[in-house]
Amino acid sequence: MKIVVIGGSGLIGSKLVPKLRENGHEAVAASPNTGVNTITGEGLAEALKGAAVVVDVSNAPSWEDAAVMKFFETSTRNLLDNETAAGVGHHVALSVVGTDRMLTSGYFRAKLAQENLIKDSPIPYSIVHATQFFEFIKGIADISTNGNEVRLPHVLFQPMAADDVASEVGKIAMGAPVNGVVEVGGPEKFRLDDLVRQTLAAWKDPREVVADPHATYYGVEVSDRTLIPDDGAQLGQTRFSDWLKQPGAKTVAAAH
Ligand SMILES: NC(=O)c1ccc[n+]([C@@H]2O[C@H](COP(=O)([O-])OP(=O)(O)OC[C@H]3O[C@@H](n4cnc5c(N)ncnc54)[C@H](OP(=O)(O)O)[C@@H]3O)[C@@H](O)[C@H]2O)c1
Repeated sequence: MKIVVIGGSGLIGSKLVPKLRENGHEAVAASPNTGVNTITGEGLAEALKGAAVVVDVSNAPSWEDAAVMKFFETSTRNLLDNETAAGVGHHVALSVVGTDRMLTSGYFRAKLAQENLIKDSPIPYSIVHATQFFEFIKGIADISTNGNEVRLPHVLFQPMAADDVASEVGKIAMGAPVNGVVEVGGPEKFRLDDLVRQTLAAWKDPREVVADPHATYYGVEVSDRTLIPDDGAQLGQTRFSDWLKQPGAKTVAAAH
């Protein structure tokens, strides 16, 4: 099958494209870097010619409330319109576990808008809800830092390796549309503050992590239920301690 990966140069996309090729598919990495822009429409019709599946693992360059909403609405509308014209039979999109529980955040309102456009379109679809990537933990620490302190709530957290996210998205892209949401998560549950503390210590980062029940996750008040998938979610294989030992882990997380 020809499978177009929108955001094919990103963290997940760059891991997904080779996995699809290893399975014998013609995977096309599409992003502004390769001349395909879902906001302006540049290169989109040409890239989708003959495609059976489109996987959207793009992300917005700005997470400011209005900008991120404009990105996901415009991009998703342009994609779905072009997919209809090209006769694409399966639209797969990557979103986040708990999106509908974090709507005080503009980012998650935009992800929900993306999901609703997909659900309302006639194109068969699969929406993959993933938990936070291990590679994203440094970003969580950085946004929660004030001086030398990182304040985070002591809530359940079940992150997964980006490589496992790409594998799960790949399996779904190669399968039949589910016309619903599939949840994927990490193999272990942690407490958010504990895991960030452990990660910073492993990286000899001098910041102190403080458990604070009033601290937010990306500006959102969260509970034990917010970030965790339901029972029955597909679980990644990579354990956090093994990922942490990988030589490139810190570099990738820092770049991300
Ligand atoms: N971070 C998490 O923990 C987490 C958890 C669950 C789900 N997710 C979801 O996972 C998805 C992928 O995240 P990621 O971290 O892999 O993203 P990323 O590394 O930031 O990559 C973003 C990709 O989007 C592309 N892109 C940006 N603007 C575009 C445009 N106008 N047209 C086409 N492509 C465009 C970029 O292309 P260029 O390189 O050419 O600019 C890049 O390939 C996101 O939708 C996010 O919501 C994230």
